[in-house]
Amino acid sequence: MPGCAATYDIGDARTSCDACGALLDVAYDWSSLPVPDSLKFFEAKWSRRHEPLCRSGVWRFRELLPFAPPDKVVTIGEGQTLLHSSDGVGRYVGLQPGNLYLQYEGMNPSGSFKDNGMTAAFTHAHTIGARRAACASTGNTSASLALYCGVSKLMQAIIFIGSGRISYGKLSQALDYGALTIQIAGDFDDAMQRVQQVSKQQGIYLVNSVNPFRLEGQKSIMYRVLEGLAWQVPDWIVVPGGNLGNSSAFGKAFHELHQLGLIERMPRLAVINAAGADTLYELYERRGLRWNSGQPDSNIVADYYAELDTAGRRASTVASAIEINRPVNLWKCLRALECCDGVVREATDEQILDAKAQVGANGIGCEPASAASVAGAKMLREEGVIAPRERVVCVLTGHQLKDPTATVAYHTHDQAEFNRVLGSRGVSRAAFANRAIQVENNLDEIIRAIELNS
Ligand code: F0G
Repeated sequence: MPGCAATYDIGDARTSCDACGALLDVAYDWSSLPVPDSLKFFEAKWSRRHEPLCRSGVWRFRELLPFAPPDKVVTIGEGQTLLHSSDGVGRYVGLQPGNLYLQYEGMNPSGSFKDNGMTAAFTHAHTIGARRAACASTGNTSASLALYCGVSKLMQAIIFIGSGRISYGKLSQALDYGALTIQIAGDFDDAMQRVQQVSKQQGIYLVNSVNPFRLEGQKSIMYRVLEGLAWQVPDWIVVPGGNLGNSSAFGKAFHELHQLGLIERMPRLAVINAAGADTLYELYERRGLRWNSGQPDSNIVADYYAELDTAGRRASTVASAIEINRPVNLWKCLRALECCDGVVREATDEQILDAKAQVGANGIGCEPASAASVAGAKMLREEGVIAPRERVVCVLTGHQLKDPTATVAYHTHDQAEFNRVLGSRGVSRAAFANRAIQVENNLDEIIRAIELNS
């Protein structure tokens, strides 16, 4: 925390400060580092894409995350992701043509944005000689860690997941890539608490976003957004909020670029919770919790968590990736919200799934949690917080194939299946369902069905 300002060596594996207990932040002495004088500097790297450190969409920007010796970097070509303009989704959100962009992080090697941060944390782990790495996960962090371990063979992956809490797409990745998988009878918040205890006790390197190097890698998502806009700053960045690593990283990225004189203004940040896992929304928008120049009121948080415990309330949303009630990066996210004049909203599962269907219908596709960004942008547009002429970037954090159960249930004609998967979450209708047509195995019937429906 700013008031503490203790510093630790880069060779330490610690994630929090002994003195004040807050999570650590990577701080650079920019005055002694070779910082480019314009973001255009990075364009030259495209012509050197045969070099792994130029091919990676993270390490291409390594002058902006200069913590790792280049010969220790572990890269698998992460971050080859692009900013897509989508007028179809823009219409749904309520923006003028040309103003809605989707930063599609599903194209990463493990299918989610996590690879941006994993390459950085994994590199740090490798630099300090770690042999085992652990994380708790709602599925994507574990898939990413398992993948880096599987490819590099440098470490063993140990993953903690809440039993029955992760989608099959993600679970299958961890199993296939060979991670030691510990299913805990509990949810993500339980698994997160346990993995911190176990990794501390057993000296296992922890790669959750409590790890400050994860966030360094995730800054690069914003560098690529700027690159996609020819280095112009958009008006809004809209991102789903779970453990709040992304939002924290994005705020840090823009703050540093601004400090270094590489951008002239800051974008605004909107963080979107699922309504069934809405701690940030509750604390920030309802109870007035603020970063307050580094002096947030921790009583507000303690009171709220005590209320959750008393009521036995657990996070619950179809967007399982963000089914989190105790976000570990809460303070850093508050800092990002302060420096980016941020807002927080919550979207219901129905709003999330409708937005997801629109993203899919416009040809990109994403997992439920990712679509919270689009649902949130639409809400902020309707409220008039976002204007139709503003340039909005929604971050799509994970690939559509991560969670086929939710997608198929949304589009199904089988009411029992709909009720089982979605009705139980309070979803009453699927406004954009694309239902499969049931026909007999009969040529005339098949042709009639096609003619009737096309
Ligand atoms: N979207 C997806 C697809 C995610 O997997 C996550 C987080 C988030 C959004 C939220 O991002 O934590 O930076 O606010 N997934 C973590 C995991 C928790 O274990 O895979 P955040």
